[in-house]
Amino acid sequence: MRSVVRGVGGYLPEKILTNADLEKMVETSDSWIRERTGIETRHIASSDEFTSTLAIKAAQKALSNAGLTGADIDMVILATTTPDDTTPATAVKVQEAIGMTQGCAFDVQAACSGFMYASCIANQFICSGQVRHVLVIGAETLSRIVDWTDRNTCVLFGDGAGAVIYGASTPEEDEVGMGILDIIIHSDGRYRQLLTTTGGVSRTQNAGYVLMEGREVFRHAVKNLSDVAEEVLAKTGISVSDVDYLVPHQANVRIIEGTAKKLGFDMDRVILTLPCQGNTSAASIPLALYEGVKSGRLKKGQLVLLDAMGGGFTWAGGLIRL
Ligand SMILES: CC(C)(COP(=O)(O)OP(=O)(O)OC[C@H]1O[C@@H](n2cnc3c(N)ncnc32)[C@H](O)[C@@H]1OP(=O)(O)O)[C@@H](O)C(=O)NCCC(=O)NCCS
Repeated sequence: MRSVVRGVGGYLPEKILTNADLEKMVETSDSWIRERTGIETRHIASSDEFTSTLAIKAAQKALSNAGLTGADIDMVILATTTPDDTTPATAVKVQEAIGMTQGCAFDVQAACSGFMYASCIANQFICSGQVRHVLVIGAETLSRIVDWTDRNTCVLFGDGAGAVIYGASTPEEDEVGMGILDIIIHSDGRYRQLLTTTGGVSRTQNAGYVLMEGREVFRHAVKNLSDVAEEVLAKTGISVSDVDYLVPHQANVRIIEGTAKKLGFDMDRVILTLPCQGNTSAASIPLALYEGVKSGRLKKGQLVLLDAMGGGFTWAGGLIRL
């Protein structure tokens, strides 16, 4: 049995923060941000929007695109670094909002790789036959943990949510090899200080602010992302020429271009949302999938390669036939 994508959804807050706006907040320039990161604008949640608000809107869109309701969902897994509350999990707010009283809902924290980790867990439950439909969400309000006086980090991040519903494959779908072919997840805690926060509930009784050694993160990113992509390709016996699109985590256009080049993808086979969204952490891959589907580039039957890297370090790669 495989996990097949039944529906994809996304939501971005209305408020847009431009590079010109940032020029007024820290010593930076539109040209520096564009050249070094590829980012032009990002969306910022309003004061009455929380991670759950964004997640619920993305989930509702995914449900409607899948033609399903909350009654069909057995499990909600929400990947986030910015939960509404320390407890309970933000996922249970989504569970309630979609009218789902059965099954279970929980959060996953794997920084920017969170959506891939959550998809990997969903895949295990579906493949073992324990559940039929899983709603996987990546949702973030990174703006709440960004230090808006730190130009090294505040230009990079944005808020948003993306959602994917995976469902158990039918025999017909199995025959044509649809669904998740494989997802590989990795972490290496030796590098945890390179992308972290200044605090956390147990250590400092607050959430802290994002702290990053940008150059070091950059150096590891291209290697880890291309290594895990090659690992998943080798494991599934698929070659890059068979893949229709690379759907990478959106952190920095130079990281994406470097990884694409190393793997042998032209940029016209890469889904890029970074210029208008910035780095939305766990939300970036499902938002890119949503954008790809909406724009008509991603179609049923196509093979997509996903890869992500984030704090921990965590990193992951996956292959899905849509
Ligand atoms: C953060 C990042 C864009 C910085 O780009 P870079 O080319 O590595 O730049 P450097 O860190 O070498 O800094 C170059 C100079 O620009 C300065 N700088 C940093 N941020 C700046 C900004 N927003 N505007 C203007 N100048 C800035 C630095 O202070 C440094 O100045 P110095 O040479 O006087 O010390 C890049 O390292 C990066 O994207 N790293 C990975 C980040 C990431 O993806 N994180 C999330 C992973 S999930």
